[in-house]
Amino acid sequence: MNKFRIVTAAMIATIMVGGGTVTVFAQEKEATLKARQDLMKAQGADLRIIKAFADGQGDQAAALEKANDLVAQSAKLAALFTAGTSLKDIPGKTYAKPEIWTEKAKFDAAAAALHSEAEKLAAAVKSGDKTATGDQFKAVGGACGNCHTPFREKMS
Ligand code: HEC
Repeated sequence: MNKFRIVTAAMIATIMVGGGTVTVFAQEKEATLKARQDLMKAQGADLRIIKAFADGQGDQAAALEKANDLVAQSAKLAALFTAGTSLKDIPGKTYAKPEIWTEKAKFDAAAAALHSEAEKLAAAVKSGDKTATGDQFKAVGGACGNCHTPFREKMS
């Protein structure tokens, strides 16, 4: 094998390893997208059970379980928005606006606000007061919207 061939083989090996790294990154990012989209859907599902209780059509124990889940989910939310996972980085797979990263403190505050409203919701459900639960349900819904409006692209 002449010198030229060795260099070429080494370059090809480098390119292949590099390509492998890109693939691993892409898979990790897709897993992150799925995890956060699933978390968001779970939050929506939790709220539906809690709303049923507030409306007098659901079970308090089931609602409390979901309210506690919402408290737990909302604490994990912000960490799932890792760098390089905006709709500009991965077009067509996510609605996460780049502003999440350029206005990170505001985004984190919106996540923290949801967490604190979710804790109040769990307390309301625990008290058994359906009116208080209904009122706090609206506050939680507001906290979802306060983040979606600036940070989530309109979903068609
Ligand atoms: C701190 C910001 C923030 C808060 C708070 C927040 N969301 Fe989201 N939500 C987002 C972003 C950003 C997306 C887009 C994620 C993506 O596409 O990768 C999203 C996506 C969603 C989706 C669509 C998921 C899918 O199928 O792709 C649902 C449903 C949702 N959120 C529900 C909720 C509910 C319910 C709450 C309140 C309990 C909530 N979100 C609170 C930022 C937030």
